[in-house]
Amino acid sequence: MEVVCLCRAGFEKEVVAELQEYAAQLQITGYVKAKDKSGYVSYVCASEDQAEKFVSTIPFTQLIFIRHWFVAHSPVMLPDVKDRVTPLSLEAEKFPPFTALQSLLADTNEGKSLAALSKSISRHLTQFLQRKKRLDANADWCAQLLFLDGDKAYFGRCRVDNISPWLGGIPRLRAPKSAPSRATLKLEEAWHHFVPKQEWSSRLAPGLRAVDLGAAPGGWTWQLVQKSMFVDAIDNGPMDEALMESGQVDHHRADGFVFIPKKSVYWLVCDIADKPARVASLVCRWAENRWFEEAIFNLKLPMKQRHAAVMDAAAKIGDVLHGAGIPFELRFKQLYHDREEVTAHLRLY
Ligand SMILES: C[S@@+](CC[C@H](N)C(=O)[O-])C[C@H]1O[C@@H](n2cnc3c(N)ncnc32)[C@H](O)[C@@H]1O
Repeated sequence: MEVVCLCRAGFEKEVVAELQEYAAQLQITGYVKAKDKSGYVSYVCASEDQAEKFVSTIPFTQLIFIRHWFVAHSPVMLPDVKDRVTPLSLEAEKFPPFTALQSLLADTNEGKSLAALSKSISRHLTQFLQRKKRLDANADWCAQLLFLDGDKAYFGRCRVDNISPWLGGIPRLRAPKSAPSRATLKLEEAWHHFVPKQEWSSRLAPGLRAVDLGAAPGGWTWQLVQKSMFVDAIDNGPMDEALMESGQVDHHRADGFVFIPKKSVYWLVCDIADKPARVASLVCRWAENRWFEEAIFNLKLPMKQRHAAVMDAAAKIGDVLHGAGIPFELRFKQLYHDREEVTAHLRLY
């Protein structure tokens, strides 16, 4: 049985590295099937139990490059274009009831070209599952359909309690018209991913202070201002004028790597494009001095060893904070709105 993972196209190698690390942790043997720029990777496990252990034991919140995952037998062949539903319903009957059926797409042009087909087949399959009384709102697993091309699709299932709340790990966020840049969506998505909604009222509360390093033109600052926070925006570049008129932003034309805040703040956010090791050192200095309580920062990954670069940054921050005796929580995620980068969240206790 396979663990099928969706990711940003071009990051399949990073998903392979991640899967191999978890497989070693769980002592699961298997092999990887991956095609460059396909937007998905599959890990073939020796047994059904092993594949299910994978997606049940490793917390979804720990995954970095894997956007969504599910288990499935090998792809179902659909040679008859007039009847793709029968072979898929036979596959569906191998599993116990599901909460529902979700139609997924690889995040590539080829994947998107299969949207209409996938939607139509999943409608028929849902009717089949309803007729056969194989849908149960209290089930632990949700059925998954992923077309690879017109005559091949995975039919599998994912655990409902260990996946992203967004279908296929892709949030549907609208770019706000008044935000100065599209980068604004990265910070909004980061909050959705790293901060539980029921805690927004305290952790994203009006009146909190924030520092935004590499702030211009102000997409991330805009998000902080929307939450009625007060922001020190650090950048030699110009900030959006309308945003400055809010009266909640102080713009410092300074180097983010040497800027020292007058007082500690609740949020540090940093979107400076620099080497991950340099950004990690910057965050360590802020953390050791307890100049923030929570930080969200981007690590740009133009290099080849992208998974290793993230692991190195994690190890560096871990070493420094353990050494300083500061309890913390650190997570990384390649968000949907991230390109050649990952977003990190660091919370100090
Ligand atoms: C990706 S942009 C930030 C976009 C911003 N987050 C937004 O939402 O509009 C990176 C910014 O980092 C700034 N930058 C680069 N090196 C910097 C440094 N050493 N100190 C401060 N800002 C820096 C650049 O001027 C640029 O405006």
